[in-house]
Amino acid sequence: MQIAKSLGADVTGVCSTPNVDLVRSIGADHVIDYTQEDFTRNGERYDFILDNAANMPLSSLRRALTPAGMLVPNGGGFGSRWFASAGRLISAMMSFRFVGQRLGRFLVAKKREDLIVLKDMIEAGQVAPVIGRTYLLSETAQAMDYVATGHARGKVVISV
Ligand SMILES: NC(=O)c1ccc[n+]([C@@H]2O[C@H](COP(=O)([O-])OP(=O)(O)OC[C@H]3O[C@@H](n4cnc5c(N)ncnc54)[C@H](OP(=O)(O)O)[C@@H]3O)[C@@H](O)[C@H]2O)c1
Repeated sequence: MQIAKSLGADVTGVCSTPNVDLVRSIGADHVIDYTQEDFTRNGERYDFILDNAANMPLSSLRRALTPAGMLVPNGGGFGSRWFASAGRLISAMMSFRFVGQRLGRFLVAKKREDLIVLKDMIEAGQVAPVIGRTYLLSETAQAMDYVATGHARGKVVISV
């Protein structure tokens, strides 16, 4: 969200009701509450979708992309089993092969010049982590349980 805004994009965030204000506060131009509205069925088309949830069929995501739009399936949420994740990824690679839409990389490609841009954004205050909860080291198991709910708010920090 913050990186896209820093680059000048018009950004739509998708989250549940309790997080609408938070997402707006970090710069979203538009916020869609997924408990009220399906962003793949509202008639909007997006140039870029970063899919953190992976709970939508690929056909729905493609419908929400512009003709030359790009989908980046950001790992997790693909399913708890590696096999399910791999299956979805292979389907995505096949279905994007014959259309103008693009499937972006989902693994981090560390490049010095990109990290410098990120550093500049952080130093300019354009990008800052949203820390939801902080746990003591001895509470790491509870922290992991919270993350495993799939609804942790912002980042979860262990203080050492
Ligand atoms: N590719 C990579 O290199 C890489 C690296 C790290 C992480 N990841 C992946 O990036 C994703 C985010 O990481 P994370 O650590 O922040 O995971 P996380 O803690 O599981 O993410 C929780 C967030 O997901 C939101 N969420 C859950 N269901 C959603 C839905 N249907 N639509 C929109 N938002 C939804 C929750 O908001 P609500 O409570 O409002 O639903 C919550 O804010 C994960 O899928 C993770 O596996 C990928």
